Amino acid sequence: MFRIGLLTSGGDCQALNATMRGIVKTILKNSKDKVEIFGFEDGYQGLIYGRYRQMKWKDFSGILTQGGTILGTSRTPFKLLDVPEADGVEKVPAMIATYRKLKLDVLFVLGGNGSTKTANRLRDEGLNVIALPKTIDNDTWGTDMTFGFPSAIDIATKCIDDIHTTANSHRRVFVIEIMGHKVGWIPLYAGIAGGADVILIPEIPYSMDNVVAAIERREKDGGRFAIVVVAEGAISREEAAMKKKDYKKKVAARVQPSVAYDIAEEIAQRTDREIRVAVPGHTQRGGEPSAQDRIFATQCGVEAARGALAGEFGYMIAQRDGHMARVPLEQVAGKLKYVDPNCELIREAKLLGISFGDE
Ligand code: F6P
Repeated sequence: MFRIGLLTSGGDCQALNATMRGIVKTILKNSKDKVEIFGFEDGYQGLIYGRYRQMKWKDFSGILTQGGTILGTSRTPFKLLDVPEADGVEKVPAMIATYRKLKLDVLFVLGGNGSTKTANRLRDEGLNVIALPKTIDNDTWGTDMTFGFPSAIDIATKCIDDIHTTANSHRRVFVIEIMGHKVGWIPLYAGIAGGADVILIPEIPYSMDNVVAAIERREKDGGRFAIVVVAEGAISREEAAMKKKDYKKKVAARVQPSVAYDIAEEIAQRTDREIRVAVPGHTQRGGEPSAQDRIFATQCGVEAARGALAGEFGYMIAQRDGHMARVPLEQVAGKLKYVDPNCELIREAKLLGISFGDE
């Protein structure tokens, strides 16, 4: 008997089901032993409280195109891992107990940074774990790409595309807020794909003088409108120079709903332009996975299944230089993959005239 456990943890994305389908179909097709599948509900919560479903091939058929997660998900912050649940249950011992009780041969964890850190902790405790790189943010260290990212770029790009027509009609400046609190991968890619004039990401602190100058330049060049794409975590030079705790206080005390509104207000104060804000928000995590996302998710699932069938555990599936790879969990845990401000794509975007607010 080959007994596998699956869970999806952290913020959801479009290609979680496609990935699980890849894992399960590959294992069912290639295992010499009979396979038992346990799907834990709502992320690590299901593992802690022994909330699981026994699943069959049929449960994973027809879900390639279905967004969200058939298992449900939740956030179990790594920093609270050793803090007991409200009812006194100790998380790590409870997870280990469920794993042992079900006599699992392997646990597949589909998650982002925090979830992968927890997966590494479980590996440390002696469990057979394989992590798969999920997040629309693409900020998982050790892999060139995460599943969820390709779909999120498409949605964010479509939002920027749609804003163009109305911005043009009204000669407006639009500030569009794209997901990414700590890293700017989606705003960078969608901003370039959507033809933004200004892109502000957390990795490149901006000066408002430069942002306004870019908007004015565009007007002088004959542009009727301007598109300013800002990451959720866009940060000014002044804010970047603040102590972390003072900056956090400032963000917590924000009167406006989010950073895009702050930036829009500042632009309005410094120009005579009409400004509007658009925030696609969680639509960026919703709907069907894109074709590219389905392919990558499937590759991740197949590779994870291949590893498990070979009895190899303790790593995260990754893509490196276009090839599927494995990265030891202890190397991945706790690291974020940031956008390099001097990368080729940013250098090219700057040559094209896109402003990142830094010059
Ligand atoms: O981690 C994915 C992500 O969508 C981020 O881009 C975003 O900042 C955050 O999750 C939103 O979290 P929540 O769904 O908890 O509001």
